[in-house]
Amino acid sequence: MPLQAINDASAHDKMPGIGPHPKNLHAWWARLPLPCARAVLAASLLDDPSSNPNFADASQEEQEQERERLLQLIRATLQKDRQSAARAVELLREEVARSADGDLPSLLDPFCGGGSIPLEGRRLGLGVFAKDLNPVAVLITKASVELLTRFSEHPAVNPKSSAGLTGTGTWSRGAGLAEDVRFYGARIADLLRHDFPAGRSRERSARRFRRLRRPRSRSCQLRCT
Ligand SMILES: C[S@@+](CC[C@H](N)C(=O)[O-])C[C@H]1O[C@@H](n2cnc3c(N)ncnc32)[C@H](O)[C@@H]1O
Repeated sequence: MPLQAINDASAHDKMPGIGPHPKNLHAWWARLPLPCARAVLAASLLDDPSSNPNFADASQEEQEQERERLLQLIRATLQKDRQSAARAVELLREEVARSADGDLPSLLDPFCGGGSIPLEGRRLGLGVFAKDLNPVAVLITKASVELLTRFSEHPAVNPKSSAGLTGTGTWSRGAGLAEDVRFYGARIADLLRHDFPAGRSRERSARRFRRLRRPRSRSCQLRCT
């Protein structure tokens, strides 16, 4: 395994301010770096040539060449350049599908946390099942693995962006979803600023919080959820 490359890419993945990244959805402790999850999953799915029947009669040198080709496919996904890495993940996914002969296993992560393993499993084309004791972890994983996949090609639905919609195809690769997250995120931030203005004492904020958690009217319920 290209451990040095995996370590370097994982250290980079953990750094703050590296641009768009699933970790920005919500903080989660002990989140596995994505390059590490990707490399480990790929290595457990691809056969080493020494145990691949197609290479049973191959020489040591031919096996070594094949091993290096597979490792290079993994290494290429660890680049910092986002677009090159994304293209490399496509190639790796094709290799994984080829090696499984169209019969890819499913992935189960019973302690999914921030969802790094299910996310990389999906990127490699696996069906994934994930669970966690903590509902916040489940929500983060659901948002990044399930909702992103389901809505990445959908147009934005918020009233501001959908008014300017020029036709289908405008909102590909999650652009519509990103617009909606920005729009409704700003709304939630406005509501929070209204309910918890800067400078208010901790006691008053705590009282307000308790009142909001016991909604009396339907509209208040909607604001709290
Ligand atoms: C180290 S974190 C997993 C990190 C994850 N691999 C990631 O990349 O974010 C361990 C997770 O196990 C969960 N957990 C602990 N005990 C559990 C249990 N009995 N059943 C389900 N989840 C559990 C915790 O809530 C925590 O999210």
